[in-house]
Amino acid sequence: MRNVYVFDHPLIQHKLAMLRDKNTSTKDFRELVKEISMLMTFEATRDLPLKEVEIETPLCKAKMHMLKGEDIAIVPILRAGLGMVEGMQALVPNAKVGHIGVYRDPDTHCPVEYYCKLPSDIGRRKVFVVDPMLATGGSAVASIDFIKARGGKDIIFMCLIAAPEGIKVLQDAHPDVNIFIAAKDSHLNEHAYIVPGLGDAGDRLFGTK
Ligand code: PRP
Ligand code: URA
Repeated sequence: MRNVYVFDHPLIQHKLAMLRDKNTSTKDFRELVKEISMLMTFEATRDLPLKEVEIETPLCKAKMHMLKGEDIAIVPILRAGLGMVEGMQALVPNAKVGHIGVYRDPDTHCPVEYYCKLPSDIGRRKVFVVDPMLATGGSAVASIDFIKARGGKDIIFMCLIAAPEGIKVLQDAHPDVNIFIAAKDSHLNEHAYIVPGLGDAGDRLFGTK
């Protein structure tokens, strides 16, 4: 699928299966989201540019490679996206973190925005918009609209589980945005929940149901 990359590494798939299990506790759910996010970040940063540097080892001087210092922003979509931040920061500790508050209206399933605070230099950063779930795509599209309106240009969307419906909506609205996912699921049910999915990511992460 255009612009869609499925991270099917065995460790990611194993942890994702545990995450989906309805008997997984809130504590384990939180830990698994963190671990999967870290593993996905490892894959998602594969193309970061490097520069040549000279290092002096105990034996000699040698030309090596280090990150060019590209600036990254992580933007979780509240609430559930928050669970992905810590694992990502473990690998990119200097990333700035913005926040976008969007929730789905329970009846219409349309996104309702309530908060937006982004790094002031968002326009020169590689922006990772993160949320565990891409269902109808409404929340992701609205969040990326926000970021583009504030100058964001180089944007990636990263989630754990995506429905085909949400992928299409996001691709159509933002064809320039690459989509990194751990799994593409079957479909949405009549309540716009992903099947088989994992249920309500925010509630499972924060223990609110
Ligand atoms: C969930 C999820 C996404 C959104 C996906 O959030 O974390 O943000 O639904 O659905 P969509 O693709 O149909 O927009 P929710 O609206 O439940 O808000 P919450 O994280 O505050 O619980
Ligand atoms: N939001 C969730 O948390 N889960 C879904 O399956 C769909 C939207």
